[in-house]
Amino acid sequence: MEKIILTGDRPTGRLHLGHFVGSLRRRVELQNSGLYDRIFIMIADAQALTDNADNPEKVRQNIIEVALDYLSVGLDPAKSTLFIQSQVPELCELAFYYMNLVTVQRLQRNPTVKAEIQMRGFAEGAVEGDTTQRQGIPVGFFTYPISQASDITAFRATTVPVGEDQEPMIEQTREIVHKFNSVYGPTLTMPEILLPDNAACLRLPGTDGKAKMSKSLGNCIYLSDTAEEVRKKVMGMYTDPDHLRVEDPGKVEGNTVFTYLDAFSRPEHFAKYLPEYASLDEMKDHYRRGGLGDVKVKRLLIAILNETLDPIRERRHAYEARIGEVYDILREGSIKARAAAAATLADVRRAMKIDYFDDRELIDAQAAHFAQNAQNAQKK
Ligand code: TRP
Repeated sequence: MEKIILTGDRPTGRLHLGHFVGSLRRRVELQNSGLYDRIFIMIADAQALTDNADNPEKVRQNIIEVALDYLSVGLDPAKSTLFIQSQVPELCELAFYYMNLVTVQRLQRNPTVKAEIQMRGFAEGAVEGDTTQRQGIPVGFFTYPISQASDITAFRATTVPVGEDQEPMIEQTREIVHKFNSVYGPTLTMPEILLPDNAACLRLPGTDGKAKMSKSLGNCIYLSDTAEEVRKKVMGMYTDPDHLRVEDPGKVEGNTVFTYLDAFSRPEHFAKYLPEYASLDEMKDHYRRGGLGDVKVKRLLIAILNETLDPIRERRHAYEARIGEVYDILREGSIKARAAAAATLADVRRAMKIDYFDDRELIDAQAAHFAQNAQNAQKK
C-alpha cells in the first residue's frame, strides 16, 4: 500500500514556534525521509471560515503568510503538494455524504469541538436577536470534524502528522472510515495519527508560561519574527518566580525557558555556546543547585532560536520577493490535489452506487423489469 501524508493548518495568522516543534519540523523530516509516496499539505481556508464567517478578509490575507511559512521551513513543492482547501470542491461532496454517518450527539462529544465552543463564546439555546456573545453555534463550525474527515480520506492518507489537539479529529475520521467501509464495502483508507515524540513539543507553552502558544493570547514567537523580536520576547519570558537571586536554587519544571530548551536544544549547541556544560541535563542540575542566573539561560535560548530561525528567515525573504510564484505553486498544487480527490470521490460514488450513468447493471436490470411488466400486462 502507498504511504501518504495529509496535514494542514488554518490560515488565521502567521505560524509560530508551537507549530514548528509540534508539526512543521516533523513534516520536513518526513518529506526528506523518502519513506512516503505522496505528501499533501493543505491550507485549510474553508475550515478557517467555519469560525471566521464575519472576517473572511483575515483568512484571505493569511493564505500567503502560511504558504511563506511552509516554504521557508523547507517544505519543497517538488516533493510535497501544497494546496488550498477551497480549491478542491470534491471535499465538500465527500463531507455531504459522510454527514449521514455521524450523529449530532457524537459531534457534541468531540472534545476539541466542545472546548472551541466554550472558547469562542458560541452558546446553545441562544435567543434570536441577542447580539451579545451568545450567537449560537454555526452549523458549518459544528460539522467541521466531518469536513476534516473528507480532507484526510480524499487523499487516502495513511499518516496524519498533527498536534495533540487534533487527536479527536483523527479519532472521528477513523470512525467515519469504519462506518463507511462497513456500510458500502471497503473503499476508504484508515488513517493513523503521528504525534510529536517529545513532551515539550506536544504542547509548547507561550512566552507567558500559559498552557499553549496561541495568537489569541499574544504569547507567540513567530517564525517570521526578527532576531531582535525574538531576543525581546525571550528576555521577557516567564521563569521560576522563586528564583530571585543567582545563588537561589531554581526549578526547571514549569520553567518556560527550560521547556523551550527541551524542545530546541541539541548537544552541539552546548559545545558551541556554553562549553562549560556537556548537555542540557548538566545545565539543569546547576540551575537546580543554585548559582545559575536566568539571563545566562535566556541568552543561550536566544542564540539557539536565532540559529534555528536564520535559514528560515532567509528563505522567507527570498520567497517574499516572488509572491506571484508562490501563488503559482499553490495553483499547481491545488490542481494535483484536485485530481487525487476526484479519484477518491469516484470510488465513493461507485461504492454508494450513485454513479447511475455508469451503472450498466442498474440500467439493464430496470429495462428488463419494465419490459417484463409490459409483457405481463399484455398477456392479461
Ligand atoms: N484542524 C487543523 C487545524 O486547526 C487543520 C486541518 C484541516 C487539518 N483539515 C485537516 C489537519 C486535515 C490535518 C488533517 O490546524
